[in-house]
Amino acid sequence: MRTTISVIKADVGSLAGHHIVPDQLLDIARRSLEEERKKGIIEDFYVTSVGDDLQLIMTHRRGEDNKEVHEIAWNTFKRAAEAAKDTGLYGAGQDLLKDTFSGNVKGMGPGVAEMEIEERPSEPFVVFMADKTSPGAFNLPIFRIFADPFNTAGLVIDPSLHSGFTFEVMDVIEGTVVELNAPEEIYDILALIGTLGRYIIRKVRRRSDGQIAAVMSTTRLNLIAGRYVGKDDPVAIVRAQHGFPALGEILEPFSLPHLVPGWMRGSHYGPLMPVGIKDARPTRFDGPPRIAALGFVVHNSRLVGPSDLFSDVAFDEARRMAGMIADYMRRHGPFMPHRIEQEEMEYTTLPGIMEKLKGRFKPA
Ligand code: 13P
Ligand code: 13P
Ligand code: MG
Ligand code: MG
Repeated sequence: MRTTISVIKADVGSLAGHHIVPDQLLDIARRSLEEERKKGIIEDFYVTSVGDDLQLIMTHRRGEDNKEVHEIAWNTFKRAAEAAKDTGLYGAGQDLLKDTFSGNVKGMGPGVAEMEIEERPSEPFVVFMADKTSPGAFNLPIFRIFADPFNTAGLVIDPSLHSGFTFEVMDVIEGTVVELNAPEEIYDILALIGTLGRYIIRKVRRRSDGQIAAVMSTTRLNLIAGRYVGKDDPVAIVRAQHGFPALGEILEPFSLPHLVPGWMRGSHYGPLMPVGIKDARPTRFDGPPRIAALGFVVHNSRLVGPSDLFSDVAFDEARRMAGMIADYMRRHGPFMPHRIEQEEMEYTTLPGIMEKLKGRFKPA
């Protein structure tokens, strides 16, 4: 059975700032997708939120980049954004950057991760959803899952993983993509993906048969809008078990709350804190950045689950560490490297301040 998993998300409005999608909007999205499911365009769906981002997790048999499926997502976001506007929610329609749908939500604001797969007898997968950060946030954990033998035991001891994975890395500034193989080219991969704002892992495939293993959303809203409109809080889909990394190998890298750009006004580095869905409401300095993970299996295109994976107490220590790192970083106030670098600030509101000071610079 060929099934497509489509995760499409957008910030269409939040309560009292940028931290939570009110139930009212989740209900609108659920009703909207239920109608579409009855029409038979999608087979199944799950609606949730992480921070101020509304997440539509859908299954269908129409392949990636399907116009009808994307249109369903777009219309659902539009309906929720209308309601957000009507009730005066904050940032209503924030990520809907275009007026009319033109066949694909890519480039219109929402973030998209999709994979078409041949279902295995059991098809476990994880949907990762982050808030207050950007797509490069997945570079480090995805590298560790698929290329670091100190993280993923299966790379060493499971013959079906031993031949490694191919990384598709996108240059979001140039709009180009390069394929690199692990393990031989891991130094080349790392030479690129350490630059979080520019080189982003978009896909990972298993080398033995080319099967898709992971997909990440790569939208950069500021590159579409040319100004700061909120961060491109990313999503990812990762397949688990039986020829892919085990679930625990997929979650393990998130035990380190690594530093990612985002947080307050999309302008600060902070630790990525792994949390259960109920704790995905970033209020401390609009953060620290959060990541939630839901585990599903898909069978005959129907979703079973989810399990809220970071609600495990074993991630308490990571959350505590994230809290300590947040304290440390915050004490730097407006100083780098807490505040993001100048080039990235060009997409924020800082140029307005620079403009004001321009005439006051005199030859030194
Ligand atoms: P089970 O024996 O519980 O299926 O676990 C196998 C495994 O690979 C755990 O990582
Ligand atoms: P979002 O990108 O999640 O909307 O957050 C925007 C922001 O400015 C937070 O301080
Ligand atoms: Mg927002
Ligand atoms: Mg957000």
